[in-house]
Amino acid sequence: MFEFVKHLFKLQFLLIVIAIFTGVYYNEIINWAVHKYADPASESIAIKFQNPEEPALSERLFTRDDLAQFNGENDAPLYLAIIGTVFDVTKGAKHYGPGCAYNFFVGRDASVSFINGQFEKFDEDEADDVVTLRPNDLISLENWQQFYRREYVYKGKLIGRFYDKNGEPTSYNHKYMMLLEQAKAAKAQAEQLREVYPDCNIEWSVERGSHVWCTTTSGGKQREWVGYPRQLFEIGANNFRCACVQDKDLDTTEVMLKEYENCAPHAHECYYKVD
Ligand code: HEM
Repeated sequence: MFEFVKHLFKLQFLLIVIAIFTGVYYNEIINWAVHKYADPASESIAIKFQNPEEPALSERLFTRDDLAQFNGENDAPLYLAIIGTVFDVTKGAKHYGPGCAYNFFVGRDASVSFINGQFEKFDEDEADDVVTLRPNDLISLENWQQFYRREYVYKGKLIGRFYDKNGEPTSYNHKYMMLLEQAKAAKAQAEQLREVYPDCNIEWSVERGSHVWCTTTSGGKQREWVGYPRQLFEIGANNFRCACVQDKDLDTTEVMLKEYENCAPHAHECYYKVD
């Protein structure tokens, strides 16, 4: 009996020592384990833990050369990057595999091609230079990134234009984020304006040219009033859309409104030809 109690104490002591050791060297143990089982094809791996409270979510930093290896050749997995974030798209091999329609995106960050659809003529250095894209294109590109977050497996960050070698956002990335926020704000404002100035119906024919007209449902906005077609220029924009404007807003300064030529100010429809 005494021997049994002695063993029990020894066992308890051993467990306490293991618990203390694990607590003190927690990060080192996890790092060792992750490196031991990491993909041997990629040695320059930096592991980070996003939040120590969350389950250990490993995030890898890729160089361009690292990423290029994940191209599906010789059974390698298929990875692509978009706005500097890397995703494993192997489960979409029918789109991304060698010889498939979107294989072009694999092994690189070709963010710009998600917008311009240019899959062949290609300058590797400019392929992820997105800050010259139009505001709505920046939003579309972010939608693509969200699509990959939803549908595929996030793997990490690409060192280069968007992230530095420590995985921190670069000043270029900050600029991109600022432009994206501006684009979203402008879009929200345009949507708000569409509530007040809904779109006209538009059709075109060879004989009569363009025909614009307002109804109580034009622009997809159900309302009591019909409105008069006007060319609406938003502040700072040099192109216009046809908007239906009600009497009380005809003199607004919120946007610039222009009457259609050869169309009575209170007509609900106008015809015009563009040369
Ligand atoms: C800017 C131009 C385009 C880009 C960047 C683009 C990109 C893509 C990508 C990345 C996928 C794979 C999505 C996934 O992982 O599930 C895809 C799928 C597809 N795309 Fe495109 N695409 C473009 C234009 C087009 C056009 C013009 C067509 C039609 C003529 C088209 C038809 C399709 C179809 C049918 C699928 C497969 C959908 C499915 O099976 O789930 N794409 N596209």
